Amino acid sequence: MSALALPLNEVHVWKARLDLDPEELSRLAQTLSTDEQARAARYRFEVHRRRFIAARGCLRRLLAQYLGCQAAAVRFRYGPSGKPAVVSEADLRFNVSHSDDVALYAFAQGREVGIDVERIRETTGWERIAGRYFTPGERALLEAVPPTLRVAAFFQLWTRKEAYLKARGEGLRFGRLEAEPDNDPGWWVVALEAPLGYAAALAVEATPPVPMLRRMST
Ligand SMILES: CC(C)(COP(=O)(O)OP(=O)(O)OC[C@H]1O[C@@H](n2cnc3c(N)ncnc32)[C@H](O)[C@@H]1OP(=O)(O)O)[C@@H](O)C(=O)NCCC(=O)NCCS
Repeated sequence: MSALALPLNEVHVWKARLDLDPEELSRLAQTLSTDEQARAARYRFEVHRRRFIAARGCLRRLLAQYLGCQAAAVRFRYGPSGKPAVVSEADLRFNVSHSDDVALYAFAQGREVGIDVERIRETTGWERIAGRYFTPGERALLEAVPPTLRVAAFFQLWTRKEAYLKARGEGLRFGRLEAEPDNDPGWWVVALEAPLGYAAALAVEATPPVPMLRRMST
């Protein structure tokens, strides 16, 4: 019996912090598969290794609660651009994003989801990225914002785009960056409330009814 129910018309968004105490981290590490442990070992910096273990361990824990199984028993498969999906008879879809020690998770039944969170940083070269990858419509939105708020606005627009491309499973390398999420009637894209200093967005395959959003924290 699963401990978490996910009705068809709901999308669940979970937030987790990834800088965990050593006992908690070690509990999560024990649920990782051999290939996930090997991936963790390849991180050059300890902080990144720990956060990967925390993010994957939390994902396994949440999926296990939806699927009614042990966290270590969850199996993943990967799409052509690397989007992970769960191997299960249930039609549970999910997506994950992390930035520094914040992770966001989105879950839905039978419809694709994409999620993105980014820490708002002045030093990302955001003006160059907007100039290169934003559509004229997105650039116009950015320019309409007062200059002091522009970096935050950039990250809001960027997370919408990335959530949309992640929902489609394309990611950034293969995704159509010229696509405008708001002009695609097949998808529903919303900004999410994020911790202070972060921007976040969620994209959902918008087969009616419009999904109800539920937010929870681990
Ligand atoms: C996937 C991608 C969008 C991640 O962007 P990011 O801002 O660095 O990272 P985020 O934290 O938002 O998302 C990372 C998570 O998205 C998921 N993910 C990976 N590939 C994905 C894809 N193609 N579509 C949707 N989600 C994907 C994973 O759960 C990943 O978590 P993990 O690194 O802990 O396994 C970006 O790396 C990308 O576009 N990659 C293109 C595909 C690619 O290069 N594949 C290489 C193998 S072919």
